[in-house]
Amino acid sequence: MSDAAADQPVSTPVDSSRRTWIAITCGAGAVGGVAAAVPFVSSFAPSERARAAGAPVQVDISGLKPGEKLTVEWRGKPVWIVRRTPEQVAALPKIDAELADPQSKRKPDELTPAYARNEARSIKPEFFVGVGICSHLGCSPSDKFTPGPQPSLPDNWQGGFLCPCHGSTFDLAGRVFKNKPAPDNLEVPPHMYLSDSVVLIGEDKKA
Ligand code: FES
Repeated sequence: MSDAAADQPVSTPVDSSRRTWIAITCGAGAVGGVAAAVPFVSSFAPSERARAAGAPVQVDISGLKPGEKLTVEWRGKPVWIVRRTPEQVAALPKIDAELADPQSKRKPDELTPAYARNEARSIKPEFFVGVGICSHLGCSPSDKFTPGPQPSLPDNWQGGFLCPCHGSTFDLAGRVFKNKPAPDNLEVPPHMYLSDSVVLIGEDKKA
């Protein structure tokens, strides 16, 4: 790890109350996830304000188990880190025909860094790093990791995310399904691995 990287704040997962706050605000008709997330920034401690202003955020992923997700804040936005199981990774190519942009060709510079323009939209197939803000009106989608038939989801559901606001669905690589209100895949933020157990969100240039 470089000295510069060592100076970065180490993030902790967003607590459930903040996630709930985002979801409630969006459900009430917010017009943008970024705007919705701004109010709680004012309560940040100084170091957290710096982080909200754009500082990269280090995340310890050593405790994340296969099939789990953690959420951190970066620039006031929720960033998800999902540790996919081998089965979840293997399922990704099977649903390409049902997706609006399976190869991440739309707005690549904005939504998908070059190192994530692959089937898993990630540096390491095991880990998906994505901004948890729907590309429709900015709600934060809910985890729907359990495969199979269930309310609001197709019978062949492989696991992913459901935006409760208007029903957009995303797979476990943040790729949006066809014929949904959301036009684009979820954003993959700039990121890089500082070690096997630490990922830096917000920066992807080696020092
Ligand atoms: S905000 Fe409308 S579907 Fe997500």
